[in-house]
Amino acid sequence: MEEERKEMMESSTQDRARREADAPVAPSLEPAPAPSPSGKGWGSHKLDNTAKTVEAKGVDLYYGDFHAVADVSMTIPPNKVTALVGSSGCGKTTFLRAINRMHELTPGAYATGVIEIDGQDIYARNVDPVEVRRLVGMVFQAPNPFPTMSIYENTAAGLNLNSSKVSKSEKDEVVERSLRGAHLWDEVKDRLDKPGSGLSGGQQQRLCIARAIAVEPEVLLMDEPCSALDPVATLAIEDLIQELKNNFTIAIVTHNMQQASRASDYTAFFNLEKSGDPGRLIEIGETTKIFSNPEKKETEDYVSGRFG
Ligand SMILES: Nc1ncnc2c1ncn2[C@@H]1O[C@H](COP(=O)(O)OP(=O)(O)OP(=O)(O)O)[C@@H](O)[C@H]1O
Ligand SMILES: [Mg+2]
Repeated sequence: MEEERKEMMESSTQDRARREADAPVAPSLEPAPAPSPSGKGWGSHKLDNTAKTVEAKGVDLYYGDFHAVADVSMTIPPNKVTALVGSSGCGKTTFLRAINRMHELTPGAYATGVIEIDGQDIYARNVDPVEVRRLVGMVFQAPNPFPTMSIYENTAAGLNLNSSKVSKSEKDEVVERSLRGAHLWDEVKDRLDKPGSGLSGGQQQRLCIARAIAVEPEVLLMDEPCSALDPVATLAIEDLIQELKNNFTIAIVTHNMQQASRASDYTAFFNLEKSGDPGRLIEIGETTKIFSNPEKKETEDYVSGRFG
């Protein structure tokens, strides 16, 4: 967790350095503009702000010499929930992190192939990875609020990184809207100045979702967001996900097959032949089909709990 938090902090510094280094070849790169409190209207973007469909075409992911994910082609459609399932180590997290260009933050890690958001290649030379990470938000496995920041500052953290020009009243509005959107407002509105780390696990995860949606992403990636939560908090997050899909494209990694069948519209099953081999996408389809009548036997074995 600590690592992810550090990574998020460091990533902005690294990206800034990279952006500066890239400046001669990509002179149009600028910090993201301030959000408008009314919702949309973020001003000019390197990527189209209406972008929503994620399309992976022949994506291979490497950690140095290690080939972690091979040849993934899939579409993550807008306003739907797509579940990514598969055994441990098959590359679900790695693939998710490639969708918002966090994969490349690991030293030696790189991607080949194409990932597009509404037809725009997010790895194109002139695309700012910081902007990709704003459009493609991420919620991690264990809730990771910034421990020294208040609930308010945690929610606004992305805004602080993206722009120093957001006024206090605009920030107040974004914070309230995001906390309401994450079903947390009523529980925290009287203690916004208290540390985020003082919330329960389920509340902390909703705080992280509020933080992710505060910057108005188009795509929300969730890596096992409920694995540290009890069943009640889990259902609260699942309800929230159903509501969030009205506004976002959602991909969620889960080991919980009941959760995948309850909460997703599409399911992608990843697997690897043996340890050391790259993970591959075996099958993707409507969740009802994947769980009732998948094309491949290995999918059926996995989703029904019969492994190997
Ligand atoms: N930073 C890294 N450096 C080197 N190899 C890595 C790194 N992160 C992950 N891997 C390897 O890449 C492969 C895919 O890992 P990944 O974390 O994507 O799997 P996963 O499907 O998310 O697994 P889990 O269900 O356990 O979270 C694994 O073999 C893993 O050991
Ligand atoms: Mg993982």
